[in-house]
Amino acid sequence: MRMVDLIEKKRNGKTLTTEEINYVVTEYTNGDIPDYQMSALAMAIYFQNMTEQERADLTMAMVHSGDTIDLSPIEGIKVDKHSTGGVGDTTTLVLAPLVAALDVPVAKMSGRGLGHTGGTIDKLESIEGFHVEIDNEQFIDLVNRDKIAVIGQSGNLTPADKKLYALRDVTATVDSIPLIASSIMSKKIAAGADAIVLDVKTGAGAFMKKLDDAEELAHAMVRIGNNVGRKTMAVISDMSQPLGFAIGNSLEVKEAIDTLQGKGPKDLEELCLVLGSQMVYLAGKADSLEDAKEKLKEVMMNGKALEKFKVFVAGQGGNPDSIEHPEKLPQATYQIEVPAKASGVVSEIVADALGTAAMLLGAGRATKDSVIDLAVGLVLKKKVGDSVQIGESLVTIHTNKENIQNVMDMIYENIKISETAEVPPLIYKVITD
Ligand code: URA
Ligand code: CA
Repeated sequence: MRMVDLIEKKRNGKTLTTEEINYVVTEYTNGDIPDYQMSALAMAIYFQNMTEQERADLTMAMVHSGDTIDLSPIEGIKVDKHSTGGVGDTTTLVLAPLVAALDVPVAKMSGRGLGHTGGTIDKLESIEGFHVEIDNEQFIDLVNRDKIAVIGQSGNLTPADKKLYALRDVTATVDSIPLIASSIMSKKIAAGADAIVLDVKTGAGAFMKKLDDAEELAHAMVRIGNNVGRKTMAVISDMSQPLGFAIGNSLEVKEAIDTLQGKGPKDLEELCLVLGSQMVYLAGKADSLEDAKEKLKEVMMNGKALEKFKVFVAGQGGNPDSIEHPEKLPQATYQIEVPAKASGVVSEIVADALGTAAMLLGAGRATKDSVIDLAVGLVLKKKVGDSVQIGESLVTIHTNKENIQNVMDMIYENIKISETAEVPPLIYKVITD
């Protein structure tokens, strides 16, 4: 087989076979296919697309390019959730204990990553003593005992994707649906999921800004999952404004604690109930999505969801006392209000800009070596559609820096007050095929 022939074949709009895709991924991973040929193929795929079979083949070839996690010693159907990423996205912190409270095994591998705030692990580490440096055996034992554990990303997972994603980044081939879908799905499958729930976000703070693109990506991922034997569902949710109120690490832990008791922001609660229902249903713990949702509401209200969060925290060395008393979580020195300059209705809160404002305070990492400040961030006092009086606070800034004029300016520029507002739907669509 020659790579040049495969590039030509794809360039001419033909379909690559399973063997051809396996050849490309294997030889590219081990360095026998150079970057310039791989980038030519990526560009051909960008223009010519891939069939469903090609997408499934590419996904599985990337899964097998490195280590895979074997979760078979864990009883039950392991359902993983993936979000395409947003601002103040506290869903994982809520969902993990919420579904575990219904005995759905949550065996989560998570990362730190770059972004407006830290990743799930950073957020959890704002709880005193909590750590994810556990070995595989402890991880499996915890999930079997408590139904929930989180372990740090480790090992040589999907090296083909790592290499290809970096190449796409510098060759203008990131925004290709078949390449994005196979990239995301390969990582979830390598991490051992039997079933997958996807939260595909759309709007200013999302990777897919346009609804049509988000929908196409959701379908692509759901089909890959189902075609390779992992039951998969997706939700398309709004990320034009931040999710919930809090953007920041310990602030989001506090928000998750509230939400687990049904006392959180309504948008965050609803999204968690919808995604959670899919997880519970796919895990075989409910007869229908409606049944699953009722069961989830029940554990929110009867205290079992919060109790599960405490058990989870204690299981990984954390002090469960800080769940009961969130004021023991890291607190910033200053809390500064941002008063509205006009009366009216909040018509826009630009998600990505608010995320950047939180990052300027130190809540996120700009480079992988940045140190994040777990205490700082923003708490919205208003969401799109809320009315506001002049002088009323729009946002509370939690900061350890005194000079935050740049953050103030950014907030004023990106929260619009008008006479009327159009409130975006929280969930656009549920996608099952
Ligand atoms: N996220 C991924 O993991 N892969 C892509 O290709 C795009 C976004
Ligand atoms: Ca939030």
